[in-house]
Amino acid sequence: MCGIMGYVGPQEATPILVDGLRRLEYRGYDSAGIAVANGSIDIRKAQGKIVNLETLLEVEPLAGSVGIGHTRWATHGVPSDKNAHPHSDPSGEFVVVHNGIIENFQSLKEGLIDKGAEFTSETDTEILAHLIAREYDGDIVEAVRRTVALSEGAYAMVVMTKREPGKIVAVRKISPLVVGLGDGETFLASDIPAVLHRTRDFIIIEDDEMVIVTADGATVETIDGSPVDREVIHIDWDSQQAEKGGYEHFMLKEINEQPAVITETLAGRLDEDGTVWLEDVSFDDDYVRDLDRVWITACGTAYHAGLIGQEIFRRVLRLPANVEYAHELRYADPIMSSNQLTIAISQSGETADTLAAARQAGEQGSRMLAITNVVGSTLARYADDILYTRAGPEISVASTKAYMAMLIAQYLLALRIGAVRGTVDPDLAAALSHGLHQMPGVIEEVLSREPQAIVAAEAIKDAQDVYFIGRGLDYAIAMEGSLKLKEISYLHSEAMPAGELKHGTLALITDGVPVVVILTQRAVYDKTISAVQEVKARGGRIIAVAYDTDTEIDKYADIVMRIPDVEDLLGPVAAVVPLQLLAYHVARMRDHDIDQPRNLAKSVTVE
Ligand code: G6P
Repeated sequence: MCGIMGYVGPQEATPILVDGLRRLEYRGYDSAGIAVANGSIDIRKAQGKIVNLETLLEVEPLAGSVGIGHTRWATHGVPSDKNAHPHSDPSGEFVVVHNGIIENFQSLKEGLIDKGAEFTSETDTEILAHLIAREYDGDIVEAVRRTVALSEGAYAMVVMTKREPGKIVAVRKISPLVVGLGDGETFLASDIPAVLHRTRDFIIIEDDEMVIVTADGATVETIDGSPVDREVIHIDWDSQQAEKGGYEHFMLKEINEQPAVITETLAGRLDEDGTVWLEDVSFDDDYVRDLDRVWITACGTAYHAGLIGQEIFRRVLRLPANVEYAHELRYADPIMSSNQLTIAISQSGETADTLAAARQAGEQGSRMLAITNVVGSTLARYADDILYTRAGPEISVASTKAYMAMLIAQYLLALRIGAVRGTVDPDLAAALSHGLHQMPGVIEEVLSREPQAIVAAEAIKDAQDVYFIGRGLDYAIAMEGSLKLKEISYLHSEAMPAGELKHGTLALITDGVPVVVILTQRAVYDKTISAVQEVKARGGRIIAVAYDTDTEIDKYADIVMRIPDVEDLLGPVAAVVPLQLLAYHVARMRDHDIDQPRNLAKSVTVE
């Protein structure tokens, strides 16, 4: 995820671009840059937050009234001045900013190197600038169109050339892009809030469309060149609503971003037959074959993601796996060796306990793989192998989309390791691949059923205690659902394996006590139903998360939150979403500060 901006009009472009980037900083903040045309095109860019770019611009200002800008959240190449956007071709006449991923960038890059091209950055974006320059024969629109035809992936890009002043061309393939229409000036941005204080009239660019922007307005076409007649929409949100993309809270916005996050995490990494490509994972096949144990270590929500990984490694790969809280593992004196892999999971890559556990594993000879959302984070720098989750910045303290990306990343890793060890049946690999590729659509469907979470939230919002139960993968989801609820609603909640309920907690189940049960694991369905019956017999209220085709649960549940049927191994991916929405709505009904719950922090960098 990155933020992109463009401006054509009578005013100085620099302050407009920088101001827009500030408002888009939530989409990425590891480096930023702008390019402004004034006869030639000049670029200024700086690693770090936008304030660093502003400081640079004070020393080296840019004048001109056409420009493009970018705030970056790295996917290819570490955050640095040279990897910051905009990127240009060697002549400096064509400049590009880009949000998203060019999946076939490696083969495009090799093709260009064969033709003598040299690159100054590690990004996929620079390749686009080279390609556009090569394809140019007097018409920038056609050059961009031909370049798009060569590039696979999900992205938005904005292009400007010295050869055609006063014009910007942009393309959307999945990543968002809007045009703001002013009086004699036109804006481009990743989202509406970036320029909402300058205009309220917008054109939303849709997938596989391009837009040609001048000071007089914008022309929308399909990527193939057919004209598009797009309605101008007038926005009347207030500025606070706008920052959250129209959502009331960042948490809800981030929950709704999950389909797009899954698409990004998978992009370029998973073939239909289940073959996986992980760009920063370099362990060799002999090492993978000799592995005798996997450790997974993390804290909080990342630990709950690790619970899913543990189950997948054990069940699908038949590989011993243990997930351990990092703050426990570091003092547990575990027996580790070079035949083991330690996977440290951390959204921020900066959690002190997780870093300490990862270092300890490394010192004991275990190879260390980081699953993290932040390129260049301390954890990523320390790790032998890295699997970036590509969820984009997460603002809400309660993690949702970063958790989702951690799940997807672990499925990818398991498929990659399983293929080498020969422990994943090819049919299962293909089924998982298919299921993962379908998952954005499944989650869209679950999100469209938000009203069922509101009904469930009404039922538990005044409870003293809430219990979450499930078996196997559903137990992992129960843990995460319970954590989400307690951290933002401040209700006491507890999760346990469904079979454990009768060993103590059942004493607390009396009339009306809510028990949330997750039922995506068909193999243990009947066993879980036994626990449900134990709850019913004591007067407890059952709130279930169940597949559409599960009619049995109607006999027992007071409320059912339905999800579409999916492969059991992927059930948790779909089942966590209603639980996120449940927690959100309970907290909202209780009028809490949802994005910044009391006593908690997004990243805990102390022990
Ligand atoms: C804090 C946050 C949690 C997060 C945990 C681990 O406690 O509030 O949401 O899950 O840290 O953070 P990490 O960045 O390592 O994933």
